[in-house]
Amino acid sequence: MAAPFTIDSVVVGRSARMRAVFDFVRVVADSESSVLVTGETGTGKELIANLIHQSSSRRHKPFVPVSCAILSETLIESELFGHERGAFTGAIKERPGRFELAQGGTIFLDDIDDVPLSMQVKLLRVLQNRVVERLGGTRQIPVDVRVVTGSKRDLRQMVAEGKFRDDLFYRLNVIPVNLPPLRDRREDIPILVDHFVKRYFRQRGEEPRAVSPAVMQAFMRYPWPGNVRELENACERIAQTCTCDTVRLGCVPVSVLFHKYAEDHQPVIENHAHPSAVSLDERLREVESNLITWALKVSGGNKSKAAELLSIKRSTLGDRIKKLELTHLEATEQQ
Ligand SMILES: Nc1ncnc2c1ncn2[C@@H]1O[C@H](COP(=O)(O)OP(=O)(O)O)[C@@H](O)[C@H]1O
Ligand SMILES: [Mg+2]
Repeated sequence: MAAPFTIDSVVVGRSARMRAVFDFVRVVADSESSVLVTGETGTGKELIANLIHQSSSRRHKPFVPVSCAILSETLIESELFGHERGAFTGAIKERPGRFELAQGGTIFLDDIDDVPLSMQVKLLRVLQNRVVERLGGTRQIPVDVRVVTGSKRDLRQMVAEGKFRDDLFYRLNVIPVNLPPLRDRREDIPILVDHFVKRYFRQRGEEPRAVSPAVMQAFMRYPWPGNVRELENACERIAQTCTCDTVRLGCVPVSVLFHKYAEDHQPVIENHAHPSAVSLDERLREVESNLITWALKVSGGNKSKAAELLSIKRSTLGDRIKKLELTHLEATEQQ
């Protein structure tokens, strides 16, 4: 019963910090020691765990990722260690756990920081003895598995607060790898955008499109609180909706163009309590005003540049400003 644990494992990165991660992974890949990958959500922890596996001599055996988030204790236990028939209500058939499925390969325990203390004891025992016991069973099943874990929180801090067992922490943290948030390695943004835009247009059976410099600029400015995952989602949405020859600002999700972290402009759309009470015309007017205000701000009041950013003629921009009665913008016009 081979489980289909396949992921698209191309890792993209050219920043000094990511290159250091790649070099480190190459060095430690073949060690049998546990690896703890830390980093905010969406920084690529699972991808790096997979890279470690693919770079190791275990590469021909399974890589088994499992998220420990949200699962209840019984669920984590049965997920990791498996269960015998009748172990609990609903356990109609016996099932091997993820440790057994990873036999000879690598298990990636993501969100290890969400594992409750009582479960941490059981995990520690498995790591020490290298055997698992299925729920409701008595058989000791030997497991030869390399353990890589992922954490979005600082486990050392959790140990200090009594929320994570120190003995388990030291066992997991033999080889630490930290993935920096995307905002601290902006040099990676352009190649990530190219990579994902290409991938998602291809996935739709379409030729990949180029991205306009203004779009890339917007991507570079945005702080990406959801890291690479958020950037990937934005590119996927662009591939679903963009019908232009080149991806333009108008095709970029508004949340990326206007965000609460920006110092020099306001978010584009207020959070209306009752969106149904707002007319479409009003809302469009608001979006248009905000986009024009934004374009003029980032181009330093230069109308020609602002028009280019918005992919419209300079004269059209002038007309729109008049029509929308954005008189304060007229007043600041520099040329
Ligand atoms: N450096 C990278 N190159 C290519 N894709 C990446 C990179 N980092 C993250 N991703 C993609 O971003 C998404 C989130 O990555 P994931 O490994 O699940 O993050 P985490 O486990 O840290 O939350 C995945 O679809 C992954 O393939
Ligand atoms: Mg993850």
